[in-house]
Amino acid sequence: MKRLFANLFFMAITTASLIACNSNTGNKEETTKKAGITETAWGEHDAKKISLFTLTNSKGTEVKITNYGGTVTSFVTADKNGKQSGIVIGFDSLAGYLAKPPYFGALIGRYGNRIGNAKFTLDNKTYQLAANDGKNHLHGGLKGFDKVVWDASATTDSVPSLILHYVSKDGEEGYPGNLKATVEYTLTDENELKIEYTAETDKATPVNLTNHSYFNLTGDVNNTILDHTLMIDADNYTPVDNTLIPTGEIKQVKGTPFDFITPQKIGSRINSVKGGYDHNWVLNKKDSSLQRVAVLSDSISGRQMEVFTTEPGLQFYTGNFLDGKLTNRDGTSIKQHTALCLETQHFPDSPNKPEFPSTILKPGEKYHTVTIYKVSVPK
Ligand code: GLA
Repeated sequence: MKRLFANLFFMAITTASLIACNSNTGNKEETTKKAGITETAWGEHDAKKISLFTLTNSKGTEVKITNYGGTVTSFVTADKNGKQSGIVIGFDSLAGYLAKPPYFGALIGRYGNRIGNAKFTLDNKTYQLAANDGKNHLHGGLKGFDKVVWDASATTDSVPSLILHYVSKDGEEGYPGNLKATVEYTLTDENELKIEYTAETDKATPVNLTNHSYFNLTGDVNNTILDHTLMIDADNYTPVDNTLIPTGEIKQVKGTPFDFITPQKIGSRINSVKGGYDHNWVLNKKDSSLQRVAVLSDSISGRQMEVFTTEPGLQFYTGNFLDGKLTNRDGTSIKQHTALCLETQHFPDSPNKPEFPSTILKPGEKYHTVTIYKVSVPK
């Protein structure tokens, strides 16, 4: 596939006027912010050029994405006082990512989440995958989509988008078929980070793509996420064994610490969940239309993040394995429960669980999913 790189410092084509209120005079002033996308050189990996793309919208919200792993490295939005700060964990250099952090901000594939015993059988053939999580396979294997270099092209039609392409070869990490994957990140003027995933294959294969951003809406990783409030529109979840593989049961959340039907403080019941939350919720939505499935809020910053998806599942992970050894871009150590993930997905271990919605993509079919993270400061 032709490698398409945007020109260095490819600049905005759209501008928008913002009405800002001057607090001293009460007068309304007009300020103009430029929406667009820029590209800066960020090093090299696997003999390929790595870039860091900065997407900006007319509200001044800024998302940085690198084509190494298709990783969201930064997501900066205004809090209730208009102060801009970063709401995802990330680093300011490629070196931090090459040191293999636990998937900070990365695209996950070919199969997001776990496959039990690192194998599955498809059309009477058993495929052996890398066992990179005890005896299980996690997030695509030793060199999943988070560790490969994606071809990138930038566009600013009306809003900035970054289009990433990656061809995963037949047999890569043990999976069958050449899989052509495309991920398009768009930052809208409504502060939505929209992620659109498409893929095609030439042999039947499991596919389950997601993004692994770690959020802390306070904008400061010195705070835990235990005081964030979360709503998940799911009456059921998939219980797991002690290696985090679903047992196959679909269990009601009612009366358990997994009930987030009405907004709940994350820390209020976390101690009754062994190890913290790291589970898949079975979303109530009945079809693959794009629907709001979760709302995360933080009273310190006043920020709220809504999650919309076409997917049937959501992995809510409370950063249980973060141990303070890594440091965020500002030098703050990243301790347990200082960030959380809301990974939209099909259910873990679906290739071995015929009762779960299928994750098998066949030749001639098109994989297509959409997820949106929308950040706002409700009045
Ligand atoms: C996912 C998994 C977790 C953990 C993290 C990365 O969210 O469900 O168990 O492996 O990725 O550390």
